[in-house]
Amino acid sequence: MARISVLGGTGYSGGHIVQEAARRGHDVVSYSRSVPAEPVAGVTYRTGSVLEEELLAGAVADADVVFDALSPRGELQGKLEGVVDRLIELATGHGRRLGVLGGASSLLVSPGGPRLIDTAPPAPELLPEIQSGIDVLDRLKGAPEALDWFYVSPAAGFGAWAPGDRTGQYRVSDDVLLVDEDGKSFLSGSDLAIAIVDEIENPRHSRARFHVAY
Ligand SMILES: NC(=O)c1ccc[n+]([C@@H]2O[C@H](COP(=O)([O-])OP(=O)(O)OC[C@H]3O[C@@H](n4cnc5c(N)ncnc54)[C@H](OP(=O)(O)O)[C@@H]3O)[C@@H](O)[C@H]2O)c1
Repeated sequence: MARISVLGGTGYSGGHIVQEAARRGHDVVSYSRSVPAEPVAGVTYRTGSVLEEELLAGAVADADVVFDALSPRGELQGKLEGVVDRLIELATGHGRRLGVLGGASSLLVSPGGPRLIDTAPPAPELLPEIQSGIDVLDRLKGAPEALDWFYVSPAAGFGAWAPGDRTGQYRVSDDVLLVDEDGKSFLSGSDLAIAIVDEIENPRHSRARFHVAY
């Protein structure tokens, strides 16, 4: 069993991830500023901001795998990139595996094709979050060779507004957007969590981004 620190383990994505990891018997610690109204049995909740060095350093030191499910909103708007820079330093120094949940917009719509963001311009209010996801991936690509990292791009239609069902089914690609037979890009929160915990248990991507969708 792995010791897994989930940063933002009370959020939409992080909440599903801690639930799936605890269900499989991993030793899971969630980090967020507040405790959830309905804690997941078997998960330890630590409170504080990832902008606090002590909390961030402890989350890395005390785990085999650190997974960042934070969002660049609120207090972290414009600051998540700096948190990831520090995570890269800490995880490299401690020899920990680092996983990061990012966005779909930098996926290619076809092999060698344009990025999703370039073919379907997003609403202006979404641009800071989208750019943050792109910047974080670039930072990971520039991380020291010693760091074992992975970055997950969910489906374009993934999100708290469309939780979906737990099916246990998903497909994986590298940089190319997956769509279903109706041309839709979707993934439920539960199935994203299954894919991420599968990757933690059986690493298939090292120093790489992968995409998960139906
Ligand atoms: N289709 C897509 O491409 C897509 C869709 C959705 C999300 N995403 C990406 O997925 C990631 C997660 O998004 P989400 O919607 O699941 O996030 P979310 O629901 O907003 O959850 C954010 C989590 O971070 C915690 N948090 C916020 N500020 C913090 C701080 N300063 N210190 C510690 N914890 C803090 C929150 O808890 P507290 O507030 O209690 O601290 C919460 O647990 C983001 O990178 C987002 O861009 C991509």
